[in-house]
Amino acid sequence: MKFFIDTANLDQIREARDLGILDGVTTNPSLMAKEGITGKENIIKHYQAICELVKGDVSAEVIATDFEGIVREGEELAALAPNIVVKVPMIKEGIKAIKYFSDHKIATNCTLVFSAGQAILAAKAGATYLSPFIGRIDDTNWDGMQLIAEIAEIFSLQGFETQILAASIRNSMHIVSAAKAGADVVTCPLPAILGLLKHPLTDIGLAQFLADHKKANS
Ligand code: E4P
Repeated sequence: MKFFIDTANLDQIREARDLGILDGVTTNPSLMAKEGITGKENIIKHYQAICELVKGDVSAEVIATDFEGIVREGEELAALAPNIVVKVPMIKEGIKAIKYFSDHKIATNCTLVFSAGQAILAAKAGATYLSPFIGRIDDTNWDGMQLIAEIAEIFSLQGFETQILAASIRNSMHIVSAAKAGADVVTCPLPAILGLLKHPLTDIGLAQFLADHKKANS
């Protein structure tokens, strides 16, 4: 399973990259706005900065919602760096654009996926990745992880090659559950990644080992 970080914050991207386990980055317009990145020129420079930090796939989301606009914006984004993946919303014009990008060998991430039907359509159009939003489904008292399992089962039966990218991950247990449910990729906030390190017995055990070593060697 690939690990992506879900942020536009360069320090957090650097920290995750330096752990040695980072395969890519996802951003969205809300995450860019959170970092105060506004205006086309700054947004483009920021994507370039992220692509310089990380060799793996970097999802950059289009703002346009019409076919021509999505294609124009997507081609501009894809030209920025070889590891840019054009993030396209799950709408009718988006599906048409994903098919266009697929035919033109431009990688895509179909975002805002909330059902198995949407996932099938994105896969048929040739999306490289599709992003079911786990946390946002959980927020509505439905089971986000069940959707990952359902899509994984369908893709395995049908032989679809689109990678299932579990998004809207809120905590470390979401990462474990997504792995069990068959996600190909998880995109996570930094605290959810770092949370995987934690277990109280690890801390207690290490303190004991160090204390015993000190006692025996003093
Ligand atoms: C990533 O691709 C998504 O845009 C992101 O995971 C959404 O997460 P959120 O629901 O926490 O905003």
